[in-house]
Amino acid sequence: MKGMDSSEITLGVVGAGAMGGGIAQVAAAAGIRTRLHDARQGAAAETCEKIRDRFAKRVTAGKMSAEEANVATANLLPVAGLNELADCDVVIEAIVEKLEVKTALFKELEELVREDAILASNTSSLPIGAIAAGLKRRDRVAGMHFFNPVPAMKLVEVIQAADTSAVVMDALIELGGRLGRVPVVVKDTPGFLVNFGGRAYTTEALAIVHEGVATPAQVDAIMRDCFGFRMGPFELMDLTGMDVNFPVTRFVHENFFGDPRLRSTPLHRYMLETGQLGRKTGQGFYDHSDGAVTPSTDAEVNAPPAEAIFVHSETPKLSRLIEACGARVLVEDDGQSPVLAAPVGEDASAYAVRNGIDHRRLVCVDTVSDCEQRVTIMAAPGHDAEMVATVVACFAQKRQVSLIGDSPGFVGQRIAAMVANLGCEMAQMGLAKIDDIDLALRLGLNYPYGPLELADHLGSKVTYRILEQAQLLSGDDRYRPSQWLRRRAQLGLSARTG
Ligand SMILES: NC(=O)c1ccc[n+]([C@@H]2O[C@H](COP(=O)([O-])OP(=O)(O)OC[C@H]3O[C@@H](n4cnc5c(N)ncnc54)[C@H](O)[C@@H]3O)[C@@H](O)[C@H]2O)c1
Repeated sequence: MKGMDSSEITLGVVGAGAMGGGIAQVAAAAGIRTRLHDARQGAAAETCEKIRDRFAKRVTAGKMSAEEANVATANLLPVAGLNELADCDVVIEAIVEKLEVKTALFKELEELVREDAILASNTSSLPIGAIAAGLKRRDRVAGMHFFNPVPAMKLVEVIQAADTSAVVMDALIELGGRLGRVPVVVKDTPGFLVNFGGRAYTTEALAIVHEGVATPAQVDAIMRDCFGFRMGPFELMDLTGMDVNFPVTRFVHENFFGDPRLRSTPLHRYMLETGQLGRKTGQGFYDHSDGAVTPSTDAEVNAPPAEAIFVHSETPKLSRLIEACGARVLVEDDGQSPVLAAPVGEDASAYAVRNGIDHRRLVCVDTVSDCEQRVTIMAAPGHDAEMVATVVACFAQKRQVSLIGDSPGFVGQRIAAMVANLGCEMAQMGLAKIDDIDLALRLGLNYPYGPLELADHLGSKVTYRILEQAQLLSGDDRYRPSQWLRRRAQLGLSARTG
């Protein structure tokens, strides 16, 4: 296709549902002759009609000229028979997610199309290699994984199976660009980049709630305010729906043979089984019915602010925070004021014991997460509740305060380190180029940072320490650091070092 004008390319799309319709829309708008086929009679024509309506709306909104809409509409042709795709340069399949149905279709297609035609699948979960397995020519089969809704989502994962030729990969990367998408090359692995890498954010949030450390609303507020995520993990799950995110989570976990890093919690399944799917049913982790009140997540202020504080961990961020809130920093522990510390990866209990601090007066502050807007604090079991209340009141003068249960790595450190760790593991497995891992998760999931960028935002050493401590204290291999991360942390290098 190199050197060809887009108008000289003919694309076939099989499956005129949500994805096939979206792919056909962007292709026709990009000036490519597009033939849309669906097994259900009349479905392709109906979808083409809908696409024409969308073009018309774009003209009204001033996003497309009438001339462009006419050309795009003329590029779009519903076809009743699969044989009408015989002269296509590329056929993209977006039919039902069943291996036997897809393999049957590909077998039919390979008998129909030209020798040099390319066959691509938009599957979200089936191995491309398995779809290609029974074919005469496996070298011309690849994955072309778009995201929903296609016109709005810029990313396309171009998946290279064991036998996919370099020529085919180059052609699909080029086609992805012509369709106005950003193509990233990914190995044929369960969940590819986005559905695999996206597991950490939500499953770690679920683990935190499962352990009773924080509520969903608290977790969401921390991830929004301290890391700049557009949506907290529970808001995100409510948006995608438990009927979508639970099966994907289970699929990825099973396909990595139960790797504990990818494990979900019983609560996730319970939400699905009880029909609390999220926005689509009006109830998920949040109540989405009309007039529902968003729960408050900030710690209540019910004491006078602490006036004097002893700081055990000397971190500039903590001292600045205390000064900003107007408390006096004691030079020596007076034996009666709150003792503040900023552990990395440890919980308050472990920190108190390791440092010989009176756990009743210890209040831990997460200074790894950004605390310009919101501060997360936690205390050990048996803490002096009145003393903790004075620290809450002190910080509440200048910040929003999240008071959580004792946890290795608070909330922010835990979730951020788990997202980063999975990104490091993807780099270690060589699933894609480092830049592409970051790009795919930013574009595919709207993350403010890619996972390796997030590791560097925390610092590779800090990320490693959070995970090492969480693994040590919990005894859970879920937190085992990626070897990619360990090497770079030990050598003092960026997590993005190749
Ligand atoms: N929906 C998403 O968010 C999403 C995102 C990425 C990838 N995908 C993948 O894209 C594919 C399609 O998903 P969708 O959401 O568009 O599904 P959909 O149910 O909206 O559409 C599927 C269409 O395929 C047609 N079809 C089924 N079997 C066929 C056959 N043998 N030949 C021709 N047409 C056939 C159906 O009639 C239907 O119109 C699946 O593989 C899915 O995993 C979906």
